[in-house]
Amino acid sequence: MTSSINQTIAGRFGRRATDYDKYAGLQERVARALQAHLPDRPTEKVLEFGCGTGFLTGHLFERFEDAEFLITDLSEHMLEICRSKFPGQKNTTFRILDGEYPDLMSHHDLIVSSMTLQWFSDPVKALLRQKNFLREDGRLCYATLGPQGLQEWRNVLENEGFPSGLVQVPSLPGIFHEEFIPVTYENGLDFLRQIKAIGADSPREGYSAMSPVQLKQALEIFDSRSDGTVTWHIVYGQLEL
Ligand SMILES: C[S@@+](CC[C@H](N)C(=O)[O-])C[C@H]1O[C@@H](n2cnc3c(N)ncnc32)[C@H](O)[C@@H]1O
Repeated sequence: MTSSINQTIAGRFGRRATDYDKYAGLQERVARALQAHLPDRPTEKVLEFGCGTGFLTGHLFERFEDAEFLITDLSEHMLEICRSKFPGQKNTTFRILDGEYPDLMSHHDLIVSSMTLQWFSDPVKALLRQKNFLREDGRLCYATLGPQGLQEWRNVLENEGFPSGLVQVPSLPGIFHEEFIPVTYENGLDFLRQIKAIGADSPREGYSAMSPVQLKQALEIFDSRSDGTVTWHIVYGQLEL
């Protein structure tokens, strides 16, 4: 089962999948950091939600050489790109799957997702559902956007009374680490273009879009206050049964 909003979000990512790697330096960095935080324990079966083009997937294959993998994404195009990067990868199944409503029969020692949870309608309930697919001693590890993400742009929208379509991430269980990563763009428009270039521009539910005039005003205010820096807030979490 999946929802139409989830299909729409994944569809946007899918349409940008070919260019994703060119613009997703931040996501690549977060996948590397998440990998470094994964627990060192016997790991036979690994499940990844929202693999995208495979930034985290590659680390998983290297780190857990002998494991059996189920690598999933809701976007068929993303999944295909990911699969094509790892030809001949042994003991691996690639599958289209909604990570918010997984329908699986299998249980896993490690369940992971990087920069995907923030796209779910209810990430907290999704984590609880995902946990059901852990083996008894398994771990669920994630990295996702924190609630203070993109603060410089968020401040302009909220303080100046513009509608904000930015995703709102609730407080999540199991957070053990957070990072604030400043990224400097040419200007506000370049920031928005880069978000769009990776397909991460789905607005939150119920958002009524800014008019072109409002968008121009918001960008002017952002540019007048900033050197183009937008700070990403990333949280890392780990759960067990
Ligand atoms: C920002 S990308 C992250 C991809 C990859 N994990 C990375 O770090 O580069 C988000 C990914 O989540 C996928 N996605 C979005 N909603 C999803 C859902 N409900 N279930 C599974 N995957 C989803 C998108 O198709 C996209 O590949």
